[in-house]
Amino acid sequence: NRRTTVRDIATAKQRGERWPMLTAYDALTAGVFDEAGIPVLLVGDSAGNCHLGYDSTVPVTMDQMVMLSAAVVRGTERALIVADLPFGSYQESPAQALHNATRLLKEAGVGAVKLEGGERTAAAIELLVQAGVPVMAHIGLTPQSVHALGGYPVQGRGDEAAHQLMRDAKAVQAAGAFAVVLEAVPAELAAQVTASLAIPTVGIGAGAGCDAQVLVWTDMAGMTAGRVPRFVKQYANLRSVLGDAARAFGEEVAGGSFPGEEHSFH
Ligand code: KIV
Ligand code: NA
Repeated sequence: NRRTTVRDIATAKQRGERWPMLTAYDALTAGVFDEAGIPVLLVGDSAGNCHLGYDSTVPVTMDQMVMLSAAVVRGTERALIVADLPFGSYQESPAQALHNATRLLKEAGVGAVKLEGGERTAAAIELLVQAGVPVMAHIGLTPQSVHALGGYPVQGRGDEAAHQLMRDAKAVQAAGAFAVVLEAVPAELAAQVTASLAIPTVGIGAGAGCDAQVLVWTDMAGMTAGRVPRFVKQYANLRSVLGDAARAFGEEVAGGSFPGEEHSFH
């Protein structure tokens, strides 16, 4: 009855075992996924879009990540909790990255952090790992760079981009990352990267050849409004289930049938 560790993650790659990761932003939802046996939960800065109502991850702050991460840790017993370092919390210097990663470990109690970028972030990863902070890297599409990228295009298309992705993957592995997210990358390239690394790849929009897969929980459960990206599979339709429950409650209150006798004290 202990939490998943980064050593378990390394063992899974040696054994060729695939594993799932989901995002979580609160104790209640995280507890459901923990009970369901999801071994790794990511307090993603996708909380910006998916939980806090912003239109990207860019506005998310360290204080918000600490608060959300602490709730996810409190709501779980088994999962390894990985927290994103948000935009602006690690790009200044490796020392800034360590300062903020330290907050997530000490104040929120997470077991690892994630940050975006390959070669450009390797120095920060190296300092964190030397200091004893397990780091998950994140390459390919890096949503914190949405303003520079002009949207969320698929990455690694064309020879030059593919070579850069491979260099990024090797750089984060050499810096000591225990795993690397590959986001929005052609499946063939993601499979090549996966075969070239000793650390596991965690794919999102990166095909079936990765060692692990991650989805944003609100997408996975059909909670997201409107269209979801092509790479998402919706395993439930929570948005309509929850909407129906709220509508039924509203109608029964308006019609006077709730509360009934069985819900009343005398
Ligand atoms: O913030 C997030 O949810 C992520 C995953 C999509 C990997 O970074
Ligand atoms: Na993220």
